[in-house]
Amino acid sequence: MSGDRKIRQGSGSDFPVATRWLSDMGLPSADLTPEHMQQFLVASVDDRPVGMIGLEPFGKTGLLRSLIVARNSRRNGLGKALVDALETRASRLGVTELWLLTIDAERYFLRLGYAIVDRAKAPPEIQATQEYSSLCPGDTVLMRKYL
Ligand SMILES: CC(C)(COP(=O)(O)OP(=O)(O)OC[C@H]1O[C@@H](n2cnc3c(N)ncnc32)[C@H](O)[C@@H]1OP(=O)(O)O)[C@@H](O)C(=O)NCCC(=O)NCCS
Repeated sequence: MSGDRKIRQGSGSDFPVATRWLSDMGLPSADLTPEHMQQFLVASVDDRPVGMIGLEPFGKTGLLRSLIVARNSRRNGLGKALVDALETRASRLGVTELWLLTIDAERYFLRLGYAIVDRAKAPPEIQATQEYSSLCPGDTVLMRKYL
């Protein structure tokens, strides 16, 4: 993939594309507002958005959410670059354990150092998120990485 690749902080103007991507991929978006986009990172090629990832920080605990790379930009390392950048950002905010819920990407996150954890062992801050309560328990895997 050629072009100028960047990862930048999200902003309210990314909201329409973010919610469209999430609904296209069947990932939760009902709890998102334009203000939340500041907690997102957006990957772009030549200033065209091609991927994103979100963080919900709760002190030392954080929720990684909404990782998406556009279909025609996949398998170029953009997903890993977004996860790396989010981990760096989370560390700077004082997050020491990053959690996520995934429907079918657990093998992807295992490769990035995340471990599967029994859903009942999610910390209360994670259990209180809309992502945790809105996703069907039987369909999702809970994962954690210590930063
Ligand atoms: C998961 C996703 C973000 C990866 O993006 P990407 O930019 O292609 O990822 P990378 O380039 O860093 O890694 C590509 C590798 O991951 C593998 N991979 C991608 N999705 C995977 C999945 N769901 N499970 C296992 N492996 C996966 C690819 O096969 C490729 O493997 P290879 O290196 O052996 O060729 C992208 O496939 C996507 O947007 N999927 C739909 C949304 C989704 O499931 N998001 C996760 C929500 S928690």
